[in-house]
Amino acid sequence: MKAIAQDRYGPADVLGLRDIDVPTAGAGEVLVQVRAAGVDPGVWICMTGRPYLARLAMGLRRPKVAVRGRDLAGVVAAVGAGVTRFRPGDEVYGTSLRGTYAEFTAAPQQRLALKPANLSFEQAAAVPVSGMTALQAVRDSGAVRAGHRVLVIGAGGGVGSYVVQLAKAYGAHVTAVCSAPKADLVRSLGADDVVDYTRDGIDRDGARYDVVIDTGGDRPLSVLRRVLTPRGTLVLVGGAYDGSPLLGGYSRQMLRAPLLALFVGQRLRGLTGRERAEHLDELRRLIEAGAVMPAVDRTYPLAGAPDAIRHLTGNRPAGKLVVAVTAGDPR
Ligand SMILES: NC(=O)c1ccc[n+]([C@@H]2O[C@H](COP(=O)([O-])OP(=O)(O)OC[C@H]3O[C@@H](n4cnc5c(N)ncnc54)[C@H](OP(=O)(O)O)[C@@H]3O)[C@@H](O)[C@H]2O)c1
Repeated sequence: MKAIAQDRYGPADVLGLRDIDVPTAGAGEVLVQVRAAGVDPGVWICMTGRPYLARLAMGLRRPKVAVRGRDLAGVVAAVGAGVTRFRPGDEVYGTSLRGTYAEFTAAPQQRLALKPANLSFEQAAAVPVSGMTALQAVRDSGAVRAGHRVLVIGAGGGVGSYVVQLAKAYGAHVTAVCSAPKADLVRSLGADDVVDYTRDGIDRDGARYDVVIDTGGDRPLSVLRRVLTPRGTLVLVGGAYDGSPLLGGYSRQMLRAPLLALFVGQRLRGLTGRERAEHLDELRRLIEAGAVMPAVDRTYPLAGAPDAIRHLTGNRPAGKLVVAVTAGDPR
């Protein structure tokens, strides 16, 4: 089968289109014929091996898994022993740790769920990592409730575009922070107010928020806390790569926020997203109800996956990028 793979860490040039063996589905695993795969900053981290801390999981000197991509939408081709939730022919979406920029991948059944019926494969592939992260930021870490005032930083990005919609679905009043070219998108996703951060500070009118969900930029905790109510909740999802080779932009989440949270009334939480079928099922429910829709900026062919990653890091897409995979044959 065709796959986008790499042998060493580096920029997108290390990726190549290769012929490799179709994986087999082990016990509890599902072999999926991939029809589309999402692109997100996690793919860039796996490709570059930066920040270095991530290499503890991915392989110290070279990537343990050669094929890139994590999100998938496709059709079940075969199931391994003990798989009870899926049958060949089911249309599914979810994640795989064996790489999804490929004609086939294998994934544990707990990482998959039935695809939302009202989405194409390309749209569905834009959901898993970003949608599940947003769901956990809004529902679990942020505990967003009806009537809350929620500030979403990075609202026009992959995660932020779902955060805006989910916060609205849970009944919040949403202020979206993004650059001017993404203002129309975030309004179309339901944002009540928009702050263009290239022109105004996030505290431009003295507003205070019950929940702040930060997915972009590198604002210090002091700036983020200033726009929170005294008992408000800050959820740190991610942000700009700050150039630190060891931790990247994660030091706020992992080190500073939990320490500071011990001494202040506000809740300061770093999010480590988990990927579970329960999250995918909840997202399918919201998508089929019309409360959430993926915002797909552009779709690339499989051979164009390196360009998709370059686009993600260089051109600030509005919403999500997707890699479409042409169907192959497992045998
Ligand atoms: N914690 C977790 O489990 C988890 C899971 C998934 C992703 N992440 C992390 O979350 C972050 C966002 O992921 P993503 O997929 O949404 O990335 P993305 O699609 O690249 O979106 C990031 C957004 O941040 C915005 N941005 C950049 N600088 C900004 C600034 N100074 N102020 C406000 N917004 C700014 C960009 O919008 P403009 O073009 O408008 O500037 C962009 O739309 C990344 O760091 C990613 O690694 C964490």
